[in-house]
Amino acid sequence: MRVLGIESSCDECAAAVVEDGRRILSDVVATQIPFHAKYQGVVPEIASRTHTEWISGVVAAALEKAGLGPRDLDGIAVTARPGLVGSLLVGLCFAKGLAWATGLPFVGVNHILAHLYASQLESGPDPLPSLSYPFLGLLVSGGHSIICRVDDFDRIEVLGTTIDDAVGEAFDKVAKHFGFGYPGGAAIDRLAEAGDAEAFVFPKPSLHKGEHRYDLSYSGLKTAVVHQLEQFRRPGAAATPENIAASFRKAAIDILASRLFRAVEDTGIRTVVAGGGVAANAYLRRLLGDRSDISVRFPPLNLCGDNGAMIAGIGCRYLERGETSPLDLNVSARVPLYRRIGR
Ligand code: KG4
Ligand code: ZN
Repeated sequence: MRVLGIESSCDECAAAVVEDGRRILSDVVATQIPFHAKYQGVVPEIASRTHTEWISGVVAAALEKAGLGPRDLDGIAVTARPGLVGSLLVGLCFAKGLAWATGLPFVGVNHILAHLYASQLESGPDPLPSLSYPFLGLLVSGGHSIICRVDDFDRIEVLGTTIDDAVGEAFDKVAKHFGFGYPGGAAIDRLAEAGDAEAFVFPKPSLHKGEHRYDLSYSGLKTAVVHQLEQFRRPGAAATPENIAASFRKAAIDILASRLFRAVEDTGIRTVVAGGGVAANAYLRRLLGDRSDISVRFPPLNLCGDNGAMIAGIGCRYLERGETSPLDLNVSARVPLYRRIGR
């Protein structure tokens, strides 16, 4: 089954063709980063207008790279939620139009579940060992920080989430404040590699009991780094960009890891699958990779951020079951993080 996946929930205009929910035949990501860089953040109007201009070319490029025409496809999948409404609408309307014109089945998918699915895609020549459920999911991006139990590609139970900022958002805001570069996460990660992570010792959030056992919080860390930096400097350590970046990165990722390791101990589930832009973080990848008692799977770096392949991959799973969406499907900006979230 060959499925075209379309992703336009934020600032990446992306399309891909995936076979049987696993093998990537093409994966085109057109990034709008240069358009948003001068604002140091995504400007929704610019994002949606740019998607409108690019979407048709991006989809055509994905089909061309796969060596296929629309009629060689078996279905179309598109991100329907969550994300920026104007941006989501461009991808959704394009996908509906193409589905209507070709008569192909179409399905709208949840971007969060798609990030968790990205690890199941084969991007190289070697087949990936299959993943067995349940596993623990670590979904960390600019909009979400979720620790969950994953029972199937479309069934997750949220164990913990952030009570304020998402982890990627914290990276972005700190980078913006210090002028480290845009997008902030990758810029901090790069700088941090040359810094001393012990130069500043930032406070940790004290959420650790009851219903907040697996929850995260980043507003305190962000305030400490941005407004109270000097208070947390180790005597003799220099306040260089590298040292600030390394100490912040360590604090932000250690918060995440402590909650995740707690979930591993409590549930006894020792397979962890990461996804989302922050899953590209070098320190996070080392920290989890060093745990010999946990089996960890990260997507390759090009599949951590937003892409069409993860949408096509998970879309294929729905279409295999005969699950499609009606042509009057609408987008939604948010998904409620109740115990279970679905498509
Ligand atoms: O998944 P994604 O591309 O978009 C959303 O769904 O939000 O994630 C983007 C987020 C941004 O906040 C970006 O700064 C962060 O992922 N990010 C990183 C790294 N690369 C991207 N954060 C930490 N370390 C990185 N290497
Ligand atoms: Zn994303």
